[in-house]
Amino acid sequence: MIRIAVLASGSGSNTQRLIEHFAQHAQARVVLVGCDQPQAGVLQRAWDLGVPSYLFNGVQLRDGTVQRELLGQRIDLVVLAGFLRLIPADLVKAFPQRIINIHPALLPKFGGKGMFGSHVHEAVIAAKEKESGITIHYVNEHYDEGEHLFQATCPVHAGDTPEALAARIHALEHAHYPQVVEQLVLANGL
Ligand code: GRF
Repeated sequence: MIRIAVLASGSGSNTQRLIEHFAQHAQARVVLVGCDQPQAGVLQRAWDLGVPSYLFNGVQLRDGTVQRELLGQRIDLVVLAGFLRLIPADLVKAFPQRIINIHPALLPKFGGKGMFGSHVHEAVIAAKEKESGITIHYVNEHYDEGEHLFQATCPVHAGDTPEALAARIHALEHAHYPQVVEQLVLANGL
């Protein structure tokens, strides 16, 4: 059984869909939800769905504690879903091509430090882009710079508010993230 850990800092709608997608899966399971924000909505979702959660802070992420926990739990794949901290180089090295992220824009544009949540959609609208979308990519030690695994696009309509664009992007995320993780799991026989 491939053991997936999801790391999230926020509401956790993607985390929920990943848990649900793999709940009855023959080869993979979300066995842990890691979170760096005690009040994050993702913790309630993990609780409701019966998945153990692991709360940690920035110090523990950087000092090797989180890495030891993930290795100790025999995690095969780390999936970031709205996780806002930079993954330290040691953790990237401990999970080579085994950490992936989803970004709510078409990287390499509109990525990097500080480009998360509504900031991304505001920048896309301000730049008068005609389309936006999602990018799923391997994680390296820089924000949003790893090799791309998947992109999907959606239109940006004139007069779009950041909220309207965010809703269109979230729909893409929910439709595609579980599928891309599934393909990765099957293709790599992780
Ligand atoms: C998503 O927009 C994702 O692209 C970004 O953070 C958000 C997470 O949303 N990385 P949720 O917490 O899964 O609802």
